[in-house]
Amino acid sequence: MNDADEPRSVQYEKAEDKGTNTSPNDTIGDIVAKRLSRREVIGGALAVTAVTAAVSTFVSTGPRNTTPTFSFKELSAGSDETHHVAEGYDADVLIRWGDKVLDGAPALNVNGQSSEAQAKQFGYNNDFIGFVPLDDSGNRGLLCINHEYTNEELMFPAVPKKQGKNRDFSDITADLAAIEMAAHGGSVIEIKREKNGKWSVVESSRYARRITAETRMRLSGPATGNPRIRTSVDQEGNDVRGMLNNCAGALTPWGTWLTCEENFNGYFWGKDTTANHPDVGALKRYGVPGEWYNWGQYHDRFDISKEPNESNRFGWVVEIDPFDPDSIPVKRTALGRFKHEGAGNIINKKDGRFVIYQGDDQRFDYVYKFITDRKVNTKDRAANRDILDSGTLYVARFDESGNGEWLPLVYGTGPLTKKNGFHNQGDVVIHARLAADLLEATKMDRPEDVDANPKTGKVYVMLTKNSKREAESTDAANPRHNNKFGHIIEITPDDDNHAATTFKWDILVKCGDPSIADVGATSNPETSKDGWFANPDNCTIDAEGRLWIATDGNSASKTGRTDGIWAIETTGSARATSKLFFQVPVGAEMCGPEFTPDLETLFVAVQHPGEGNSKSPSTFSQPITRWPDFQDTM
Ligand code: FEO
Ligand code: CA
Ligand code: CA
Repeated sequence: MNDADEPRSVQYEKAEDKGTNTSPNDTIGDIVAKRLSRREVIGGALAVTAVTAAVSTFVSTGPRNTTPTFSFKELSAGSDETHHVAEGYDADVLIRWGDKVLDGAPALNVNGQSSEAQAKQFGYNNDFIGFVPLDDSGNRGLLCINHEYTNEELMFPAVPKKQGKNRDFSDITADLAAIEMAAHGGSVIEIKREKNGKWSVVESSRYARRITAETRMRLSGPATGNPRIRTSVDQEGNDVRGMLNNCAGALTPWGTWLTCEENFNGYFWGKDTTANHPDVGALKRYGVPGEWYNWGQYHDRFDISKEPNESNRFGWVVEIDPFDPDSIPVKRTALGRFKHEGAGNIINKKDGRFVIYQGDDQRFDYVYKFITDRKVNTKDRAANRDILDSGTLYVARFDESGNGEWLPLVYGTGPLTKKNGFHNQGDVVIHARLAADLLEATKMDRPEDVDANPKTGKVYVMLTKNSKREAESTDAANPRHNNKFGHIIEITPDDDNHAATTFKWDILVKCGDPSIADVGATSNPETSKDGWFANPDNCTIDAEGRLWIATDGNSASKTGRTDGIWAIETTGSARATSKLFFQVPVGAEMCGPEFTPDLETLFVAVQHPGEGNSKSPSTFSQPITRWPDFQDTM
């Protein structure tokens, strides 16, 4: 089957999996029933995207020693139309696509959508979730949520998925494209916890915000004003509209939201014209233009033949102040331009500087870190306002010995000179992938989220998969050829110093079914038949320092289970034992996850539920699940 015949998430998966790098519980019938009755009050909606909260007296930890254990009763792995959470926990839908975010938002009417309404309603396909407490009780807080992309075949009546080499966008009118653009970006919502422990969205909150593909943003850092950033409408090269394909992200210790642009290449149009583009090699390396959407037919900026530099203004980490809905989001270019997955971070104990770990999610791409020049000011929030604009970007080389080195992407050092097309640090960050190629960084099996554990100082790298890894191109850090199931690497910074340029590394787990020898999985033999997983993607480390994995790529046919949340031990004799806590409905990938600081609630994002594939097609009129509302008309 042609790649382009697959739905968008599968196409994205394959695009990411393509590699442009050519350099060397219980069933929950009662919960469903409750939701249904609430749903009737709210009115019609196609439920295809939602943030869910699992609430309980959370995981009991046993004695707080170096070997924390997960005491919840594991779910049975499987695949069906709804979600499941471990026994003893409740899961409730908090907010769904089309729900009100801003005042004036109408109830979602799937047969009468408009971009004006969508720009006030909750967007589509949530990935990252960040919880920012608003008071010491932790009973009020803000959720910062990314809206990564849109599924036209599930959003719009009678619109087939875009497929085939010459896919036909003629039914995506300017109005539908405008709805798609308004469904991208992110939302800030205020939520509050009731006495029964359940959360609800605060109406008319002064913090409520929708960010879309047209929200005004500012560029800062070394790429600002670079000739490659300037466009016909922005001669200064610092004023951008919107953010695209925001995948995972992170919060900072000073309470800002880092949201990461991933597959931005898919939004650009003009394949026929790339030969004339001044940076044709870089275009190829970044996969621009992908032509996944036809916005370029209506907006010149998304057509590279008309606005050749616009794509250089995407692929960044965006910093947003969730406390001020009028603040201008800032694209922090010092962190480099690539297909950013997340921005897991830590204040380096050794010197107080801020360190951000980053994955570039494409097959054979790299793991990066960024270290600020300045220390984090933990007393004065405003003092950290532009701290992300100056620092050093590094890319990782994983050596066979279990050692590793962070290689600096600094203009004028090593090969990063005029001779190789770099005239300043702006060029280095805009073409970070090309710079990292020259430094001979290690080509990884699709780096997704990377998170640092503040308790132990260890860093965890999710490597989701790489089916094109050949036997002869395996290395110690990417040891499986045809790596269908992914693995997790644990990095230990030398001298417990996150600013160090050397580290040790180890593989925590090679994912997949350990009972099938050919799979080549390695995990703790204590892992149950439900406890193993494939395709680690997002992750989080809870307040006790424990690692939780969200997956993207499991399915009934591939692993006999849908995606979900697995808790995994990282220390002691239980190391590399994982347990299944939450499962998504069929067609979804698991995102979030985010705990409240008191560990009473876990927020998860159920992304693209009901998305089909070639074996089980799924459409607006005949979706493979109608989760979470289960109403035939939606
Ligand atoms: Fe949007 Fe890398 O997952
Ligand atoms: Ca992800
Ligand atoms: Ca993924």
